Amino acid sequence: MRVTLASLILGAGVISAQSLLGLPLDIEALLSSLMPAGANDPRFADFHPPGSGDGMSSLANHGFIHRDGKKMTIPHLIKGLAEGLNMGADFTVAPNPLGGSFDLDDLNTHNFPIEHDASMSRQDAALGNAQPFYNPNWQQYISFFDGKTTTDIPTASKAKFARYQDSLAKNPDFTYGVREAVLSYGENTLYLQTLSDPVSGKANVEYVKTLFEQEKLPCELGWRPSAAPITLASIGVMVAELNGASPEPIPEGLEIFTDSYKDVLVAVVGGSRILANLTEGISSALGL
Ligand code: HEM
Repeated sequence: MRVTLASLILGAGVISAQSLLGLPLDIEALLSSLMPAGANDPRFADFHPPGSGDGMSSLANHGFIHRDGKKMTIPHLIKGLAEGLNMGADFTVAPNPLGGSFDLDDLNTHNFPIEHDASMSRQDAALGNAQPFYNPNWQQYISFFDGKTTTDIPTASKAKFARYQDSLAKNPDFTYGVREAVLSYGENTLYLQTLSDPVSGKANVEYVKTLFEQEKLPCELGWRPSAAPITLASIGVMVAELNGASPEPIPEGLEIFTDSYKDVLVAVVGGSRILANLTEGISSALGL
């Protein structure tokens, strides 16, 4: 028997033509049609700030996802993240503890299970508002790339370690275990890969500054989405590389593997079955 995505989804319990999540029955067609938008897509030039939050804001600021940051459904995110950044559907579906339809503002609370200390450009929640861009932390991070035109994994590891040490010194509530390490290595990987490709770790430093400082896709500087998609697997490999290049300690006896990123995202949601319920089976179809 041929096992199609649709049959997997149906097997996982999606039976209504228009379900609670607003998932169309042609989800298989959606998943198989994903690709980055063409280089001349008008949205690359159509930038309206401000968003609020992280890499998602840049997509909202260019209209790849709803500009007002509201009513994010899974099919909408799968399409927008593919068109704007060539993110694979497996990545987009994984960090979805909110399920259904959510607003970007919902992501920026300390209760959201992906939030963590020692961010590149945000404050620790114990030290201030963890949501807005916080330039002192960002300057500490990005200064490691002074004099370089492109990023590289050893320098990104050092910069990340500096943020770790700064939070450790300043934050009496500093919380940093495997979960936090994997998530924050994952976020380093997200900008490294979306701004270059899923393998090299060599992003133009000006692209990086544009993304973080303006929440803008660096299209005017010549950037376009990677031709190859960025997946949980490609992120997992680079998370392990960054960790391997870092002096940063993680709890004794634990190691970070290439599957750790996927495993942590699925775990913060509550496991595969809960994720499958939240996504009405799409996560199962994607092997999560
Ligand atoms: C469904 C998709 C996504 C969700 C739910 C999500 C959620 C979040 C959350 C809650 C944070 C804050 C973590 C913290 O620093 O405490 C964060 C950080 C971050 N996200 Fe996302 N995100 C998503 C997609 C993306 C994408 C596609 C990119 C691509 C560039 C991205 C890049 C980043 C970066 C670079 C940070 C780190 C900010 C920093 O350390 O200062 N995210 N994300």
